Amino acid sequence: MKDPSFRRSAALFRAFLREGADPATAYTLLARDAADQVERHTPLRGKVVVDVGGGDGYFTREFRRRGAQGFLFEPDPAEIGPGQRADTVVADGYLLPLADGAADVCFSSNVLEHVADPHTFLGEMARVTRPGGLIYVSYTNWLSPWGGHEWAPWHYFGADRARRRYERRTGRPAKHRLGENLFAIGVGETLRHVRGRSDVAVLSARSRYWPVLPQLVPRIPLLREFATWNLLLILRRCS
Ligand SMILES: C[S@@+](CC[C@H](N)C(=O)[O-])C[C@H]1O[C@@H](n2cnc3c(N)ncnc32)[C@H](O)[C@@H]1O
Repeated sequence: MKDPSFRRSAALFRAFLREGADPATAYTLLARDAADQVERHTPLRGKVVVDVGGGDGYFTREFRRRGAQGFLFEPDPAEIGPGQRADTVVADGYLLPLADGAADVCFSSNVLEHVADPHTFLGEMARVTRPGGLIYVSYTNWLSPWGGHEWAPWHYFGADRARRRYERRTGRPAKHRLGENLFAIGVGETLRHVRGRSDVAVLSARSRYWPVLPQLVPRIPLLREFATWNLLLILRRCS
């Protein structure tokens, strides 16, 4: 699907709305879309691709389908699908069991908002990527309409209140708790951080899902914190 386009954004949004009922369709579509985004910068065939915090492995499977040597790293055994267990390295993104420069592509989708120290996490992604290699990192920022995850958009009125509301309404414990496994990460602060790093160059900073001018929104201070929705950074590892 053409990226950006209304057709693509609408298809992803529809899949996202049905994610709970049909995760396989949603994540297969998202994985194809992300692999297309990577392939706009480098072909995947024959490449070593490391998926950090890859959860159930949809992205790694898509990379392999395209001829890459895909490796899945996931710290939480509960996130790993039963069919994927033998094929996953249980490891934390802060400390990957990989040599410097081992990966041609280091990939992370929707993980950065779940780590307390995103700068160390990004540094580790850069360390394991070979000079000239590509880093794909995307995350939902806190002030995005989806920033509160399952308790969004009520996070705008306070995280604790939003979480309690979710639990009252659904009768289920919320998966996320601010400051434990979800963190209030912004857009501007991350852009300043990656632009200030000497080990990476920013090839692209865009809204991952926007249907028009996805590069524009992350350039506008304040507006970007609300309207980017999900920030996608494509970085080149410097030598
Ligand atoms: C929202 S899920 C994203 C899964 C998958 N990447 C995707 O886009 O569908 C967040 C994932 O980040 C993982 N995660 C949390 N902290 C992490 C860390 N320190 N290092 C690596 N992964 C981490 C979680 O275990 C979980 O699988």
